[in-house]
Amino acid sequence: MSQVVLVKEVAPRDGLQAQSVEITLAQRAELIGALVDANVPELEIGSFVSPKAVPQMAGTDQLASDLPTGNSRFSALVPNMKGYELACQTGLQRLAIVVSATEQMNQNNIRKSLNDTFLMADDILTRAAAEGIEIHAYLAVAFECPYEGLVAESTVLDQARQLMASKPARLVIADTIGAANPRAVKSLMSQLVNEFGSDALGCHFHDTRAMGLANVYSALESGVRQFDSAAGGLGGCPFAPGAKGNVATEDVVMLCESMGLNTGVDLKALLEAVSLITKIIGREQGGRSHSWLKHHWEKLV
Ligand code: COA
Ligand code: ZN
Repeated sequence: MSQVVLVKEVAPRDGLQAQSVEITLAQRAELIGALVDANVPELEIGSFVSPKAVPQMAGTDQLASDLPTGNSRFSALVPNMKGYELACQTGLQRLAIVVSATEQMNQNNIRKSLNDTFLMADDILTRAAAEGIEIHAYLAVAFECPYEGLVAESTVLDQARQLMASKPARLVIADTIGAANPRAVKSLMSQLVNEFGSDALGCHFHDTRAMGLANVYSALESGVRQFDSAAGGLGGCPFAPGAKGNVATEDVVMLCESMGLNTGVDLKALLEAVSLITKIIGREQGGRSHSWLKHHWEKLV
């Protein structure tokens, strides 16, 4: 089993999309720069969605056209073919698409039926394969839906198989509202790892019920090595009531590194990105390890 964990930093997208304070493009660009300086291997910079639906993501095209240099691989989320086209025009080569596991979540999130969303996902994946664009396919509300309640594991397994048939570069199981528990994660993810292999899978957890990091650990134990997280634990979805922050990148990095799993993330620089997020949001931000880490680094410098 690999001793390397790949972190996909999503603060500039999942972290910012539902914030109620005004956030400028310059601030979003500064955050992207700070996260690149922290050497995050993957970085989702924003989304190509309707600015009426998600005003905080307006102008992602401008960010994509002027990205900093560094080691991070950039990506963006697209909700439909129009978003795919807009994103490709900026030269981005890695995109995320989202299928929600339930009818109502698809309706509320992207105004499409479950069936139409699967058809659209297949269309985008087929086109992306021909055009050399790498796609991460997300299966959202994979444990519980804010509208339809618990989602059966058998449903998620069937949907995962359906999505994998269209050959995404990665299938990401997303606990959009932070309702998963470590046992459910272990059961689902070990079956998926057995079926598709660790390299094809990722997990995306929110910390709504304080189980984010426990769920990461459970997925690690199931063989998953690719995780979404947001610096400072920022996050939330405008269409999923109750969705709180993503699991914090600094906590995921601490967990992995303390167990001998390498992330390559520069924790000290990541703390600077968290300070910047605090400045942007206007309220103290940070994962559970944040104050300990801050103290630790302050003693070292
Ligand atoms: N980016 C920007 N604009 C888009 C767009 C995209 N990807 N897709 C559609 N639009 C525009 C259309 O051009 C149209 O513009 P107009 O009113 O100026 O003519 C308008 O949005 C409505 O188009 P339509 O196809 O009818 O979309 P809709 O109103 O059914 O909304 C989505 C569908 C997907 C665009 C919208 O629900 C959305 O952006 N959702 C994103 C949800 C999200 O980000 N969730 C969190 C992450 S999972
Ligand atoms: Zn999320």
